[in-house]
Amino acid sequence: MGKKIFSGVQPTGNLHLGNYLGAIKNFVKLNNDTANECIFCVVDLHAITVKQDPKELKKNIRETVATFIASGIDPKKSIIFNQSGVAAHSEGAWILSCVARMGWLNRMTQFKEKAGKDKEKASIGLYSYPILMAADILLYDATHVPVGDDQKQHLELCRDIAQKFNNDFGVVDFLKVPEPLIQKEFSRIMSLKDGSKKMSKSELSDLSRINLTDDKDQIINKIKKAKTDPLSMPKSINELEGRPEAQNLLGIFANLSNLTLETSIERFASNNFSDFKKELSALLVNKIVPISEEIKKLLKDQSYLDSTLLEGVEKADKIASKKIKNIKEIVGF
Ligand code: TYM
Repeated sequence: MGKKIFSGVQPTGNLHLGNYLGAIKNFVKLNNDTANECIFCVVDLHAITVKQDPKELKKNIRETVATFIASGIDPKKSIIFNQSGVAAHSEGAWILSCVARMGWLNRMTQFKEKAGKDKEKASIGLYSYPILMAADILLYDATHVPVGDDQKQHLELCRDIAQKFNNDFGVVDFLKVPEPLIQKEFSRIMSLKDGSKKMSKSELSDLSRINLTDDKDQIINKIKKAKTDPLSMPKSINELEGRPEAQNLLGIFANLSNLTLETSIERFASNNFSDFKKELSALLVNKIVPISEEIKKLLKDQSYLDSTLLEGVEKADKIASKKIKNIKEIVGF
């Protein structure tokens, strides 16, 4: 049987190789399986949990849609829409925030990382953000949610919220408890400058990530400057121990070429790092530049991107408004 897929990406600019390998590449695979029903959401309500320039936000929403399409998601086959277009997300998030417990949210590591030392100054939205994410998923009865490893804890929270709602209101199986789809390997792509940190949109140095809008020269330059260690190329997985940068670069190679880590290690065992980096950048240029060029082409056709979103909003709204109506009845409104 096909799966009901839901996933989201924040339109906060600088979509990068981590978003692609951890999430979007998987979206495309799921989109291509005709048995699946897929919904991919540009989560603009999540984006405003940290301050956004309104003009930039609008631009980034379009850029995220363009990235989905350029990567291979077909808007005729899958629903692509932006979250703020469907009112049920905000309504659902409120109702579920009365089900979720403070203690559960207090355990969320991403909030702690994002809020940093000055938690008092973080927005309430940043704190309650995983509840909005739960509403996103549960409104569509999603069975599977493809995400990178950093979203695992939020999905566990979503499962807890669904179960508690069903228990509290005595509605067995009403909110469907979703399964995460997280790749076993390479589900966390690290910064090119520090193998212990996740590749991230918000990292100040652009050299820390490959953006999906980078051109050939930028990619080659970033891989040339990527941090490595003084040892030679590893000959086995064991030799990767304590070498996060080497592991990350080999992982990127393996993921992009659909090889296992072992095979990739064997292939470069007798090379030096600069030879490996040359092959890695050639592979990245081959895979990422066509996407980057397509994004730029699509961005010139704003009316196409806007109408894609509008069509998506209409389709998503039909599903979500039915579910929120039932939720409201169950709650007693
Ligand atoms: P966001 O926008 O931060 O990231 C989008 C997707 O990219 C993955 N990702 C990575 N994967 C591997 N390595 C990395 N370095 C890396 N960085 C990001 C993320 O895991 C994610 O899958 N809260 C979510 C968006 C969201 C959502 C949802 C997802 C909102 N509602 C409902 C699924 C279902 C987020 O902020 O992702």
